[in-house]
Amino acid sequence: MKLPPSKPIELLSGNDTSGFQVEQVSLASIAEEFGTPCYVYSQSAIEAAWREFTTHLAPLSPMICFAVKANPNLAILNLLAGLGSGFDIVSGGELARVIAAGGSPNKVVFSGVGKSVAEIEFALHSSVFCFNVESEAELDRIHSVAHRLGVKAPVSLRVNPDVDAHTHPYIATGLKESKFGVAWENALELYEHASKMSHLTIKGVDCHIGSQITDLSPFGEALDRLLNLVERLTATGIHISHIDVGGGIGIQYQDEISPQMADYAKILIDRLRGRKEQLVLEPGRRIVGNAGLLLTRVEYTKTAGNKRFALVDAAMNDLMRPALYEAWHEVVAVKKEGNEQRFDIAGPVCESGDILARDRMLEVHEGSLLAILSAGAYGSSMSSNYNTRPRPAEVLIDGAKSSLIRSRETLSSLWEDEIIPK
Ligand code: LLP
Repeated sequence: MKLPPSKPIELLSGNDTSGFQVEQVSLASIAEEFGTPCYVYSQSAIEAAWREFTTHLAPLSPMICFAVKANPNLAILNLLAGLGSGFDIVSGGELARVIAAGGSPNKVVFSGVGKSVAEIEFALHSSVFCFNVESEAELDRIHSVAHRLGVKAPVSLRVNPDVDAHTHPYIATGLKESKFGVAWENALELYEHASKMSHLTIKGVDCHIGSQITDLSPFGEALDRLLNLVERLTATGIHISHIDVGGGIGIQYQDEISPQMADYAKILIDRLRGRKEQLVLEPGRRIVGNAGLLLTRVEYTKTAGNKRFALVDAAMNDLMRPALYEAWHEVVAVKKEGNEQRFDIAGPVCESGDILARDRMLEVHEGSLLAILSAGAYGSSMSSNYNTRPRPAEVLIDGAKSSLIRSRETLSSLWEDEIIPK
C-alpha cells in the first residue's frame, strides 16, 4: 500500500464496507485483540515520512532531530533512531527516553525555556550535541553548571526571528512577544557575551517559529534572518558550525494544503547549498502525525434537541487537540453499517468541551468502531488521566505484524504514587 504521509485517509486501505485496515491488519482485529481506545501507528508511514526529509534534503546532508514531544513512545523513538534520527528534546525526561530507546545523546538538541540545573547536569553528563538556549539567564546557568562540572557546554541561541507563522496562536512561537527564544535585536550582544564565557562552546544558531505551518514563506523569512545574524556573527569573529531551523512543517488534517516537502526543501537548499554550516531540523508532526490514528468504539448514540451524539470510549484525556485548539481530525467509520447521519463524536469525560469531532456524517450505531485520523503527533503524548481514565494501549503495525508498544494503563497504577497520610 502506498503511503504518502501527508493525507490522513491514505493511512487506511480496504473500504468502508469490508472494513479499513492499517497496512495489512484490519482495525476490527486490532480492536478485538488490544481493546479500545487504542492508538494505532503504521511503521511504513513513519518510514515514508522520514524518507521524505532525507530524500528531498539530501543535497544538504542534514541532521534530523525528531521532536520527541510529538510522540515519545520508546518503540517509535527506537524506530527513528534506527533510521538515523537525532532528537530534539525539551526535558530531562525526554533525554532519558531517548537513551532508553537506544538513541544517541550526541545527536540530541536540548530546547525548552525552563531547563533546570538537574536537567542541564544530566545533559552535560550525557554529552548532548547542543543546548538551544532561550534566555540570558539560562546561558549564565548553563555556564555555571558546566564550570562546576569542569566541562564546556555546546550552545546555540534560539533566536526569535519575529515572523508570523500564520498558525494557531497556541502553537505560534516566533513572534516578538512569545515566551520562546531571545529577541532578534539582542541576539548579537548575547552571542558576544557567550563568547567570553570560558565553559561554553558556541556551536550554532537556532530558531523554531511554530507548529502546523502550512504557508512556507515564514520559513524562508526566518532563515534569511538567521543567515543575516550568522553574517554579523562572523564579522565579529564568532564562527558557528550549524544552523538549526527548528520544526513546524504542517500536515493535512482536513482541507488545508499540506506543504510539499520538495518546496520546503527548496527554501532551505536555495539558501544553504554550498555553506559550511551543518543544517539541523527538528520536525515532529510531519513524521508521525498522519502515521497514527485513535481507534475508538461507540458506546451509545443519543439525541439532544437537534443534535445527535455518538458517545465513544475515547475522550479529551486521550486526544486533547480538539478541546484545546478546536483542532479538526477526520473521523471514519471502520465499517459501513446503516445510514449516514450527522453526529457529534463525544467522549465520556465530564466536560462540555469533550467533543472529539463535530457535525460529521457517519454511519454508526452502538458498538461501531471509529478511527480518528491524524492522531500520531501530540495525541498520546498529550494524554492525561483526567476522570481517572487509564491511558490507551498503543500498537505499531508493520506489514501483517502488530506489536503492542504500550499496554493500556491499569487502574491501580493510576494511584500507586498516591499516599493516604497515617
Ligand atoms: N522544535 C521545538 C523547539 C518545538 O517547540 C517544537 C514543537 C518542534 C520542534 C516540533 O514542531 P512540529 O514539527 O511538530 O510542528 N501540541 C500542539 C503542538 C505543539 C508544538 C510544540 N513545539 C498540537 O497538538 O498541535
